[in-house]
Amino acid sequence: MNDFSRIGSDLEGRRAIVTGGATGIGLAIATTLAAHGVMVAIADLSAEGAEGAAAKLGNGRGASDSGAGSAGEAGVAGGAGNTGGAGDAGGIGGTGVAGGPAGSGSGHRGTETAGTTDGAGHFGLGMDVSRRESVEAGFAQVLERWGGYDILIANAGVSTMNRAVDLTDEEWDFNFNVNTRGIFLTNQAAARHFTGAGHKGVIVNTASLAAKVGAPLLAHYSASKFAVLGWTQALARELAPAGVRVNAVCPGFVRTSMQTREIEWESKLRGMTPAEIEADYIAQTPLGRIETPEDVAGVVAFLCSDAARFMTGQGINVTGGVYMG
Ligand SMILES: NC(=O)c1ccc[n+]([C@@H]2O[C@H](COP(=O)([O-])OP(=O)(O)OC[C@H]3O[C@@H](n4cnc5c(N)ncnc54)[C@H](O)[C@@H]3O)[C@@H](O)[C@H]2O)c1
Repeated sequence: MNDFSRIGSDLEGRRAIVTGGATGIGLAIATTLAAHGVMVAIADLSAEGAEGAAAKLGNGRGASDSGAGSAGEAGVAGGAGNTGGAGDAGGIGGTGVAGGPAGSGSGHRGTETAGTTDGAGHFGLGMDVSRRESVEAGFAQVLERWGGYDILIANAGVSTMNRAVDLTDEEWDFNFNVNTRGIFLTNQAAARHFTGAGHKGVIVNTASLAAKVGAPLLAHYSASKFAVLGWTQALARELAPAGVRVNAVCPGFVRTSMQTREIEWESKLRGMTPAEIEADYIAQTPLGRIETPEDVAGVVAFLCSDAARFMTGQGINVTGGVYMG
């Protein structure tokens, strides 16, 4: 017997942090969660982008008055007009290594106030997921505002493209600092909060198709995303006794500002036109089109919901069939 009336209905009134939510896949996830009545804190390298995106979600008191609906292709295209995305905003090597190991290890001890959402709707905040002090300050800000949270969507990520033989240390570090360290730091903050508060929270990490299959010209990115799945599985096992679920999604070729940059780099590296690169992506996709951020967002909402209550440690492919495994 089900104890949820329809899929996703239990999301109403929950509170989520979405990293990298100012644009692209993160914005679609934030929009979809908000449409399900979730209050959303958008955390992004671009504070301005995060605040602007949060403002578009409405007042955070449920789906009926958010006015957000689905971001749609147009919304995503609009999102691409941010600072140009991570590569431009952070820059290779532009994200310093922070802090060293955790000081106390005691974690947050926020007092839960679930269910009281009045006067504390969606909001945006600046956060660099690759820096411990920035992550801790951002998560503390959410706790101060809401008293707790129920869902972490660790989605912020970056890419660069190069042949493995030409890769630089800077490219390697840039990808690993955001894609892998960023998952570690944000997941750790949420794990400490959930276990400290005795709260059965949910974590969903954005990995990639490149976390399942080594992607040419993206060896460093692939390695950083394979690591995300290893981390996701290990954390899922550690937190399962506390009732905290940890999963990942693995998108394919998704129409975002990251893809725009990649098509440009790839066309130069492979000596093809951008149109030929895009046609190649579609040819690799059995469902026959470029993926949208909303294709990913629906699956993430499902993973957050009680309909996925017996799923943990999974890396769910959302690729239109590019990879089946
Ligand atoms: N677009 C694709 O085809 C694709 C495919 C598979 C996986 N992914 C993954 O999906 C996630 C979202 O990618 P997207 O395509 O929406 O990219 P995007 O570049 O359009 O958006 C990424 C967002 O993350 C933010 N960000 C970057 N560095 C950050 C940092 N250090 N701290 C906080 N925020 C930061 C950016 O400001 C931006 O708002 C990434 O993890 C990416 O690796 C994307």
